[in-house]
Amino acid sequence: MRYIDDDLDNKTILITGGAGFIGSNLAFYFQENHPDAKVVIVDSFRSGEKLSNGNLKSFGHFKNLIGFRGEIISGDINDRDLLLNLELNYKFDYIFHEAAISDTTALEQDLMVKTNVNAYKDLLELAIKHNANMIYASSAATYGNAASPQIVGREAPQNVYGFSKLCMDNLSREYMQNSNISIVGLRYFNVYGPREYFKNTTASMVLQFGHQILLGKNPRLFEDSDKILRDFIYIEDIIQANIKAMNPKKSGIYNVGTGKARSFQDIVDILQRELGTTLSCEYIPNPFIGSYQFHTEADIASTKEALDYEPKFEMEDGIKAYISEIKRVFEEEVK
Ligand SMILES: NC(=O)c1ccc[n+]([C@@H]2O[C@H](COP(=O)([O-])OP(=O)(O)OC[C@H]3O[C@@H](n4cnc5c(N)ncnc54)[C@H](O)[C@@H]3O)[C@@H](O)[C@H]2O)c1
Repeated sequence: MRYIDDDLDNKTILITGGAGFIGSNLAFYFQENHPDAKVVIVDSFRSGEKLSNGNLKSFGHFKNLIGFRGEIISGDINDRDLLLNLELNYKFDYIFHEAAISDTTALEQDLMVKTNVNAYKDLLELAIKHNANMIYASSAATYGNAASPQIVGREAPQNVYGFSKLCMDNLSREYMQNSNISIVGLRYFNVYGPREYFKNTTASMVLQFGHQILLGKNPRLFEDSDKILRDFIYIEDIIQANIKAMNPKKSGIYNVGTGKARSFQDIVDILQRELGTTLSCEYIPNPFIGSYQFHTEADIASTKEALDYEPKFEMEDGIKAYISEIKRVFEEEVK
């Protein structure tokens, strides 16, 4: 589905983190809906390098980009030479900044702030030099356990990831005041959908429960999962928000969720209905109490107003749209 009328012919679009989940979906959106736009992806891809929690340092994967015909640059946004190359050899009209240490459980504060905050500042400088519109990924993690519905301005991050995203937002506000470019920060809530598989254990619980069920295993949930509520949002609505953020009524920081909180138990129940199973659930103690969000629900009034954003996928619709891909990935990657 195409979200804007502009043809974007002769426009050049940079997507950082384009080999990751959300970035690759954006890349295909442009390829399918605006084939005459030039799309350049920058991503560090995965190496074997791991963080101290055992997860990969970066999750980019070539399989997310099979079929993509634009330009792909393997590089690290912390590398000043790479940024200089981008500055001198391209002229970007739009920058979609998705590259990040996206693992909310990462403990490396130095790497997190450097990659998520400091490199973002360099990209803002690039956007100013090119007079490009900046659309970047912030996060609901900025809210931590702040009361629902979460509203921009009431943040309380509980981990360094959420802190780094809040730093990006603060930096953005400064640039909104002191520059002429359009800057939109999108605070994504819990995203699920195609091309997330290579995030491994940091992929959404929709995919992880889906694969547990397809393996015939009893879904394992945290105790009281019917009371742990999140605003789960399907990738199509995330793409909608990004595309509409290309021409916002106003620069700003906006929540991107459905505006409705659903439980982890709901995910399993909907998946079981879609997959035709009746496995009984196992409940285990939640080891993350203290650094875990128990209730998120985006206040999306300002997003609707500034971006003309209207979420289209309730969780039932999102899982229904996703189910064939959950099965395909299971057949090709898991089984
Ligand atoms: N998926 C979600 O639920 C969610 C929620 C809130 C915010 N976000 C944010 O959205 C953005 C995209 O997330 P995602 O879910 O697609 O995660 P992802 O990990 O799949 O994508 C991030 C991409 O950035 C790349 N990357 C990491 N470090 C890099 C570096 N130094 N230089 C260049 N590339 C680098 C990775 O290889 C990866 O391809 C991130 O900024 C993330 O923090 C995601």
